[in-house]
Amino acid sequence: MPPRKDNILLTGFMGAGKSDTARELAKITGLFAIDTDELVESLVGMRIADIFAAQGEAAFRALEQRTADWLAASVDHTIVATGGGFFMVRGFMELGRVFFLDVDFEIIRARLGSGPQAAKRPLFQDIDAARARFAERLPGYRAAAHHIIRAGNRSCADIAREIIGLL
Ligand code: S3P
Repeated sequence: MPPRKDNILLTGFMGAGKSDTARELAKITGLFAIDTDELVESLVGMRIADIFAAQGEAAFRALEQRTADWLAASVDHTIVATGGGFFMVRGFMELGRVFFLDVDFEIIRARLGSGPQAAKRPLFQDIDAARARFAERLPGYRAAAHHIIRAGNRSCADIAREIIGLL
């Protein structure tokens, strides 16, 4: 389905490099870059990990849907880094051109490790569960993308250049 809007959306699993690539794209294009995780946090004044701990995943997904509805109503010509599960919101592909940053799980695992980057991600605490979720989501990421970028271990600048070439 062609997008109704002129946004550029970055999707993919946790640690795929969506936020850094969004900033790189903003630098190149002069557009603003926003991040759905930050928008969700701003809605309730809580960190993602605290939302999961206090209210659970379903409540977090409802906040993502509210964020998607706001993007649909109010945001255009903007680069949007999305949380790893955001592609499941209703109307996702109509929000803009969707670029799936396709990175193998083992690269993500090495990148996030078990440090602060993993700590702030409630769904990356149990590696086996994260690996299973990754495998389960992969067909969905592919189906919900207008473009698939084999991002692997490439730099964000390199990925951003490929995206610009596709626009
Ligand atoms: C999630 C990914 C996270 C964040 C939340 C849930 C997911 O975003 O939205 O922890 O379901 O994959 P990042 O992809 O930016 O880590």
